[in-house]
Amino acid sequence: MAETRTKPRAIDPVWDRITSEAHEAVAKEPLMGGLVHACILHHKTLERALSYRIAAKLCSNEMSMMVLREVANEAYDDDPTLVEAARADLNAVLERDPATLRMLQPILYYKGFQGMQAHRLAHWLWAKGRTDLAYFLQMRCSEVYGIDIHPAARMGKGIMIDHAHSIVIGETAVVGDNVSMLHSVTLGGTGKEEEDRHPKIADEVLIGAGAKVLGNIKVGCCSRIAAGSVVLADVPPATTVAGVPAKVVGTAGCDHPSVSMNQLLGTRGAE
Ligand SMILES: CC(C)(COP(=O)(O)OP(=O)(O)OC[C@H]1O[C@@H](n2cnc3c(N)ncnc32)[C@H](O)[C@@H]1OP(=O)(O)O)[C@@H](O)C(=O)NCCC(=O)NCCS
Repeated sequence: MAETRTKPRAIDPVWDRITSEAHEAVAKEPLMGGLVHACILHHKTLERALSYRIAAKLCSNEMSMMVLREVANEAYDDDPTLVEAARADLNAVLERDPATLRMLQPILYYKGFQGMQAHRLAHWLWAKGRTDLAYFLQMRCSEVYGIDIHPAARMGKGIMIDHAHSIVIGETAVVGDNVSMLHSVTLGGTGKEEEDRHPKIADEVLIGAGAKVLGNIKVGCCSRIAAGSVVLADVPPATTVAGVPAKVVGTAGCDHPSVSMNQLLGTRGAE
């Protein structure tokens, strides 16, 4: 009799960890079984689980879950950097948010993480010239998660958007790798510039809650923007700015403020 061989499963410690957390969650709270099975345990890979979760959250009477899931699967199959970025985002949340103890939490519950992955899909559609579907995803993301990111905006990997109400990021904004932002952040235009009119945020910047960064300005690597600031001018690297309009108030206090989530003003964070 011919031996049937199944292709060995690729080793994926992240996905193994997520499925093991899912089993533990169901054992602890059986009423979560249906949701956790549908979102995690039914799937063989992180990509497929993300497709399901995003499609389930963003579908509506206007667009079925099946269509959105097919689009997401197509994107993940076409561009492996999408799931690489999602993994970096997952790690970012786990590392930086003290309330996150399991990788399962962002996938199941966090608007910031899910919204980032939906934006990554919209950006993929945008790059393929499928702009109407990209705009549709932007709209649903804004309606469902309160995160309004233009599909053309370029976002790095390892992004954490904590709490995630009322995030607005404009068309020509660029956000580097390992950036952290809290709720109610705007990366917008001043209304006085045309075309390239939005901020360029370098790697490892920490942007506090309610900060408004306006215009085609540069925020340097490893800088921090204090909560509630209105930033209208370039921010040098490794610097802290605060106020309306924002002024330099000190150094960033440490090498990686967005990763350590160092939120002490001035140089006190270095102590
Ligand atoms: C108000 C605004 C239109 C600028 O108006 P303006 O009269 O051309 O102002 P200027 O850029 O010449 O700045 C004049 C002064 O006001 C300050 N200023 C400008 N905008 C400011 C703001 N939003 N908050 C506080 N101070 C502001 C400037 O720092 C400058 O101060 P200075 O004279 O001490 O240097 C613009 O900054 C703004 O806030 N636009 C709205 C942007 C927005 O909501 N974007 C979101 C898009 S999603």
